[in-house]
Amino acid sequence: MSHDDFPTDRPAVVTCGLPYANGDLHIGHLRTYVGGDVYSRALDRLGQEAAFVSGSDMHGTPVAVNAEQEGVSPEDFALDWHERYAETFPKFNVEFGNYGHTHDETNTELTQELVRDLDEAGHLYEKEIMVAYDPVDDQYLPDRYVEGTCPYCGAHARGDECDEGCQRHLEPGEIEDPESTITGNPAEYRERTHEFFAVSEFADYLSEFLDRLEGTPNARNQPREWIEQGLQDWCITRDMDWGIDYPGDDGEQDLVLYVWVDAPIEYIASTKQYSERVGSDAFDWETAWKEGASDEFPEGGEIVHVIGRDIIQHHTIFWPAMLEATDHAEPRAVMASGFVTLDGKGFSTSRDRAVWADEYLDEGFHPDPLRYYLATNGGFQQDVDFSWEKFAERVNTELVGTVGNFLYRSLLFAHRNYEDGPDADALSEDVAARIDEAVEDVTAAVNDYSVRALGDAVTDLARFGNEYIQRNEPWKLVDEEPDEAERVIYDCVALAKAIAVLFEPLAPEKSERLWDQLGEPGSVHDATVEAAGEAPAGDLSEPTELFEQIEDERVEALNEKLDARVAESESDDGGDAGNDDDGGDDGSDANTEDTDMSDIEPLSDDRISFDEFQELDIRVGRIEEADGIDGADDLVKLTVDLGAETRTIVAGLKQLHDVDDLPDTKVIVLANMEKAELFGVESNGMVLAAGEGADLLTTYEDAGPGTKVK
Ligand code: 2FM
Ligand code: ZN
Repeated sequence: MSHDDFPTDRPAVVTCGLPYANGDLHIGHLRTYVGGDVYSRALDRLGQEAAFVSGSDMHGTPVAVNAEQEGVSPEDFALDWHERYAETFPKFNVEFGNYGHTHDETNTELTQELVRDLDEAGHLYEKEIMVAYDPVDDQYLPDRYVEGTCPYCGAHARGDECDEGCQRHLEPGEIEDPESTITGNPAEYRERTHEFFAVSEFADYLSEFLDRLEGTPNARNQPREWIEQGLQDWCITRDMDWGIDYPGDDGEQDLVLYVWVDAPIEYIASTKQYSERVGSDAFDWETAWKEGASDEFPEGGEIVHVIGRDIIQHHTIFWPAMLEATDHAEPRAVMASGFVTLDGKGFSTSRDRAVWADEYLDEGFHPDPLRYYLATNGGFQQDVDFSWEKFAERVNTELVGTVGNFLYRSLLFAHRNYEDGPDADALSEDVAARIDEAVEDVTAAVNDYSVRALGDAVTDLARFGNEYIQRNEPWKLVDEEPDEAERVIYDCVALAKAIAVLFEPLAPEKSERLWDQLGEPGSVHDATVEAAGEAPAGDLSEPTELFEQIEDERVEALNEKLDARVAESESDDGGDAGNDDDGGDDGSDANTEDTDMSDIEPLSDDRISFDEFQELDIRVGRIEEADGIDGADDLVKLTVDLGAETRTIVAGLKQLHDVDDLPDTKVIVLANMEKAELFGVESNGMVLAAGEGADLLTTYEDAGPGTKVK
């Protein structure tokens, strides 16, 4: 790993969190995979050698519990879902270099080897622990086979994670009031011998690792707190049949490895399979993953993990400790995405409140607009809300109105007026400079791990193109000043070519179509950013509109369909609006399930008078600057324009928002909040935000800074 700017000379590996092979994919699931694919394609565009890998997560109780409910073997169940995922991802133009699965030979061998290495290096030890057990069913109840109460926050929790409360990983034996998820029987605790990985020994290493780690800020900030609170060693075996056998098993107790041991090792196994396919001269997995495998890059390659924010702990604590303990390369970056909601609420797979991946395609929508929406609607670590209205609005204004409009009007004019394509000696200086700027924006976006900025770079360039053609009006020049008209349209074709190259990561299929329309040789998938500024080939074919408008009636129909489906599913289960009954994880890294009403605090009975309300001086503000504060993990120092004056306000937003995205955001500020000093900075006001995700309050229309909220 290096910390040089991309592109570097080292081989890079971009990985996506492995989906559990246990259920249908909806569009919320796709966010991480689209994000990873966009990022890896952008690295390709920069000329970085990169492998993009993932695979299905076949083991563990999320799969075993669902298979048991279906009455099939976990292996058949998981393989079936694996095959479906392997077909679904390419339909969204998510093109892994290799998509394997954790149950195959490569992963089984590498996992057992790595666990043996951990053992030989003295990092494993045995310990007696209490494990939940169903006395009626005579069955041990690991992880998702048991549920109960979180010992840390009191929320209802799964055996291995407090999914409805504090989100902590829970070790076996920690959950209180255990019950079997299969039979509902109260469980008891029995003593068993299990294997532990001494993660706590790596606390100092992990602190330093986090200081070096790139990616989204949430992937560094949360783990720092966990380390400060003290790391626990990690139980890496389970009383189960389904999984990879623990290699040190002495036969007394049938143990398999905890799913979270073999799952990330699939990142290595999948890269190995990729190398085997393309040849190690083209990509050497050992150089990328093993320290000292190559003399040239003894620290290994550039490993970038793209994940959902619910699995940060596994990727920034357990996994890097495993890698460090076994002389593997250290991850360079972790990009942790926020969740996806549907119309402001969580997806609910059991209530069919979801837009399913296949359904989106069956409706006749092209994958690229969804990729664009998921990748650019907010910073990567922020939650994204999907609704058909919002989707249609961004498609219509940005893809159709800005990008598509520029391309179509320019290319149609060029095609109609210049049989062999417009020609000029060179690009106009300002256009060449603008293309260079867009390439710089793309390079910066890659180095900032911002998929949104990759999209902005292209829409901004298309906006420039629209202004340029509008300002120069080649249609008026064509008779009087034909050379000048040709120069202008030549510039526009060059801008279109740059858009094709730079838009490839977001909209690979549409960019390829544009590339063909432009008569460019080869494939846009092989073009690097250098090609963006090169002279266009000019052999234009008749253009067609690249993106399709989505009409209001279509949106209404889609909403009606979704509402009807949810209503039907609710009436099927007797209108039970309670907890989701999936019985396990649906692989939804990038997904939130519906909020259980019991999570919502009751409304207050303590009324205040209107006069009391008027004492609150609440104003619209605009963030001008945002900076981190030394030593404070959560806090951001904001400079906020409040119309009458500009204030410094400290806010706890750092873990949940990209600090760089905050400037220009409109916020609502309690201006007469008493002043407070936080980490040596005086905070003069309070920025209002909703919920755990610190969802910033803003205005619906254009109320400017200083406007009073009343
Ligand atoms: O949480 C999940 O959906 C897991 N299947 C992710 C595994 S990612 C990796 F580390 F393998
Ligand atoms: Zn909890």
